[in-house]
Amino acid sequence: MAVREIVLIGDPILEKKAEKVPSVTKKLVKIGNDMLETMYEANGVGLAAPQIGISRRLIVFDVDEEPRMLFNPVIIKQSGEEIDVEGCLSIPERWVYVKRFTELEVAGLNEKGRQVRIKAEGLLARVLQHEIDHLDGILILDRMIEEAVTETKKEGE
Ligand code: NI
Repeated sequence: MAVREIVLIGDPILEKKAEKVPSVTKKLVKIGNDMLETMYEANGVGLAAPQIGISRRLIVFDVDEEPRMLFNPVIIKQSGEEIDVEGCLSIPERWVYVKRFTELEVAGLNEKGRQVRIKAEGLLARVLQHEIDHLDGILILDRMIEEAVTETKKEGE
């Protein structure tokens, strides 16, 4: 595994819709492992492939000490709404209020290429929405309700 450089806001790749992966290959799993290592190094809880300069539909996340990798993630159920503070590893030192669904079901492929469904609520639901947004070229500043004060720092996503 290797720590990759995180792409920062201003790079057009962050505003681009990422491409679906046709299948889960060893090469893509290696990229996913690099993303996890990069995310841990940056003290983040989620990372999307465009954030390391790869425009493919792949996200990684870890909110409960269980590293996960998901290819072609799609939200298939959603409910509830909550406004809370988010940061982003590609947008250093900014913390903003964003409205998200509180409960989700997400479908995608795991690192073995198997179709999986993940039920999520709370922080995990928020992280999944944040990372899937990255795959559609959407950043938290696009969804910002208002700027948060820096004292309410949270872990980057
Ligand atoms: Ni982000």
